[in-house]
Amino acid sequence: MEAFASKIPSEVEAFRVEMLGKKGLITLLMEEFKTVPSEQKREFGQRLNALKSRALERVAELKELSDGVAGEATPLSRDATRPGTTQPLGSRHPISIVMNRIIATFARLGYVIAEGPEIEDDYHVFGALNFPPEHPARDMQDTFFIQRDPDILLRTHTSSNQVRAMETQQPPIRVVCPGRVFRNEAISYRAHCIFHQVEGLYVDEGVSFADMKQSILYFAKEFFGEGATIRMRPSYFPFTEPSAEVDVSCNLCGGKGCNVCKGTGWLEIMGCGMVDPNVLRNCGIDPERYSGFAFGMGVERIAMLLYGVKDLRLYFENDVRFLSQFQSAL
Ligand code: DAH
Repeated sequence: MEAFASKIPSEVEAFRVEMLGKKGLITLLMEEFKTVPSEQKREFGQRLNALKSRALERVAELKELSDGVAGEATPLSRDATRPGTTQPLGSRHPISIVMNRIIATFARLGYVIAEGPEIEDDYHVFGALNFPPEHPARDMQDTFFIQRDPDILLRTHTSSNQVRAMETQQPPIRVVCPGRVFRNEAISYRAHCIFHQVEGLYVDEGVSFADMKQSILYFAKEFFGEGATIRMRPSYFPFTEPSAEVDVSCNLCGGKGCNVCKGTGWLEIMGCGMVDPNVLRNCGIDPERYSGFAFGMGVERIAMLLYGVKDLRLYFENDVRFLSQFQSAL
């Protein structure tokens, strides 16, 4: 009885049935008791009772040991040569995939990553970027403030990293600034209070608007196909002058007009412009000698256009059925 030492619940149960079940060994011996000659009954009875209590004890001991042990007593589960059971592999989040692709595209043009804090001060998010204190352009970006201190806030764009890069380096500067940004916006299918941006900055001697157009066209072709064209519409940002909004030809309808491009044949993808001389000066770069361009795009927006995702909230819900559709080596 001591020789039996399994911890597998189904084996312990089989042992109990074999010993103490209706047709178990001990039960059968109990029935035999009637036939035992009376002079042997006493000894037989004593031994049989001892056997039965030892069996009950042993079953209880083994049950306790097997408590919590998973697995069935199938011989196969003990075959160490069988292939193991695998865990399902996760996949990269679509926002990370697109962000990494944007970074890789600009890395080929010589850009390096510049990062900075998500909790920023007013100066790096607004002041240095030519937003005067009472300027209405601050309202364009609904800001979250930290603990009622108007100086400490969640960055509303990653342009703050451009400022930090210019403060600490002299041209030539070529940086991309990927990261999470925060705006106090109502959540809907096209807006969220947390989203991601990649911004870029190139400052050197003789950098021109034509250089900017060429770099952005390169990006557009990389993402929306060789046949992609871009157009620029005049716009306004306090930190760039002149500023433009960039559209790429709609890759779904080939420019004929569909419901994604709302019949226009164009999709808005980013803002850009020549860095305002005031911004260069604020960051310790001589605007008489250097010029530069900057651009900034929303990663969710680019990902929606690339993958045909119609509701931005899907990116934040972490539904595995949605996320597992995206596969990438990047
Ligand atoms: N920071 C702007 C925004 O969040 C986007 C942007 C526009 C960035 C033009 C730039 C730029 O660097 O040059 O709306």
